[in-house]
Amino acid sequence: MKSHRPVIGILGAGKLGTVLAQLFIKANYPVYIAGSGDATKIALSIKILTPGAIAVSASEAIAQADVILLALPLSKYKTLPAKLLKGKLVVDAMNYWWEVDGNMPELKSTTSSEMVQAYLKGARVVKALSHMGYHNVFDDNRPHDSLDRKAIAIAGDNSADTALVSKLVDDIGFDPVTIGRLSAGKFLEPGNPMFGASVTASDIHNLLPSILE
Ligand SMILES: NC(=O)c1ccc[n+]([C@@H]2O[C@H](COP(=O)([O-])OP(=O)(O)OC[C@H]3O[C@@H](n4cnc5c(N)ncnc54)[C@H](OP(=O)(O)O)[C@@H]3O)[C@@H](O)[C@H]2O)c1
Repeated sequence: MKSHRPVIGILGAGKLGTVLAQLFIKANYPVYIAGSGDATKIALSIKILTPGAIAVSASEAIAQADVILLALPLSKYKTLPAKLLKGKLVVDAMNYWWEVDGNMPELKSTTSSEMVQAYLKGARVVKALSHMGYHNVFDDNRPHDSLDRKAIAIAGDNSADTALVSKLVDDIGFDPVTIGRLSAGKFLEPGNPMFGASVTASDIHNLLPSILE
């Protein structure tokens, strides 16, 4: 039977991208995944690490997918094909990490996801899947009714988009917690208590009392 789940395109076939691919495949989503270059460069590792996911080029992943997940180094964001991403829902899981990204002076005046949104003008960017380490994403996902299920925070400007991302987060094994508009993504960035957190939904409320009741 044809799947009615949105098609997931993952840009970045590294630590986070491959773990997310595994979880979406497990949740019966079609998954296309791309690295920075030709699909043949990642084909073998994808076959071994994420059976079921299809290794493609970035442009093919974007063409096939309903929802694009960004799992590449933040400093590479301008290598993304902004024109192809027009009209797409884009989930930004990227963080600024000095050791990897070097100096990014543009971040002095904005949050990283707002910077990405400004570059991807025609896309709708939601920040999610960014604050939890990939090993926790791998280990801590749980079925819906599990006790002590961990949560993923989501920030976005459009309620229909954050609702869809919430469904994706739920389907891969985490309680979704929408924390506000895209600008609220600053509370998830490195240097904040939420960064690196693998905690429950009520813990997220406790960590972000100024924006969540
Ligand atoms: N690691 C974590 O625990 C974790 C958790 C949450 C969020 N994040 C964030 O997720 C992002 C990825 O982290 P990571 O640890 O997975 O990094 P990683 O293991 O270094 O993987 C990065 C991947 O991005 C690819 N890439 C670079 N430019 C690309 C482009 N234009 N299109 C498609 N793919 C491209 C790289 O391909 P090549 O090898 O061909 O260059 C590589 O496959 C970072 O922004 C990080 O802050 C990481």
